Amino acid sequence: MADLRIKIGKMLWKNPVTVASGTFGLEFAELFDLSKLGAIVTKTITLLPKPGNEPPRLAETEAGLLNSIGLQNPGLENFIKNDLPEYQKFDTNIIVSISGSSITEFSKVIKNLDKQPNIDGYEINISCPNVENEGIAFGIDKGIVYNLISHLRKITERTIIVKLTPNVTSIEEIAKAAEKGGADVLSLINTVYGMAIDIETRKSKTKNVIAGYSGIGIKPIAIQNVFRVAKVVKIPIIGMGGIRNISDALEFIIAGSSAIAVGTQNFVNPFATLDIIQGLEKYLNEQKIHYHDLIGSVR
Ligand SMILES: Cc1cc2nc3c(=O)[nH]c(=O)nc-3n(C[C@H](O)[C@H](O)[C@H](O)COP(=O)(O)O)c2cc1C
Repeated sequence: MADLRIKIGKMLWKNPVTVASGTFGLEFAELFDLSKLGAIVTKTITLLPKPGNEPPRLAETEAGLLNSIGLQNPGLENFIKNDLPEYQKFDTNIIVSISGSSITEFSKVIKNLDKQPNIDGYEINISCPNVENEGIAFGIDKGIVYNLISHLRKITERTIIVKLTPNVTSIEEIAKAAEKGGADVLSLINTVYGMAIDIETRKSKTKNVIAGYSGIGIKPIAIQNVFRVAKVVKIPIIGMGGIRNISDALEFIIAGSSAIAVGTQNFVNPFATLDIIQGLEKYLNEQKIHYHDLIGSVR
């Protein structure tokens, strides 16, 4: 049996497969044992509850999905009371995804979560394109990224993952600022700006007009971002963007991802993560290569 274990920041994952924030929840526990995953990343939470954007918030395209959910979530207090105890039942790493509109807000959320047991890391979502004055507003400026992450680094010992947006001129600059600020891990990519139009009404298919594009159409964009970032940082990368199956996952790993996350494909095939774990074992055995030697092995 191939050894799939990997260190991601301060965490040890039993395999390099996780889920992309916002595309996976506790309801999947009815379908399979979530302990089989290397880690679970929660939907992004904020200090106070958020109703999200007005519908329609989803539109299918010919090659992927547009969403403008707008970080709908129950807020920190409800998350701690209702969701966290359920996540804590699984024998895997629990990563809480967090957003905020100021350094103070991010800090408050992390200080509170740090008092809770069995959280292994935080994913700092500075890349959501569907909210004003937060999310991407942080993730497109290397100075802001450095300030935010170096501040959060002083607050928590737990693994800090910084989630990057591809909607920038130089993702390398942002990645380096996050690493310099003290990030343990980077995850990329969040959704790409996208839009679709209903030709009868001549309106955007999402109420928020410009939305976040995910799924198969963004895979080549994501892979080149992973490839570029892997060249300039030493910390591990969790790669995502259009991963549907083992062959997609392998492309990300060979490009430089130490781990991968499945997002939109969870809606199509809820067992995609498990298929990828199995496929990875088979590939490593057939190719007679160790997992660590595969990472970033692009020729
Ligand atoms: C419906 C939906 C909701 C999402 N919600 C979040 C979220 O709350 N936080 C976040 O960081 N990313 C969110 N994302 C982005 C995904 O985590 C992921 O970065 C992106 O979709 C690319 O991966 P994929 O093509 O495999 O879906 C969301 C994506 C979708 C499709």
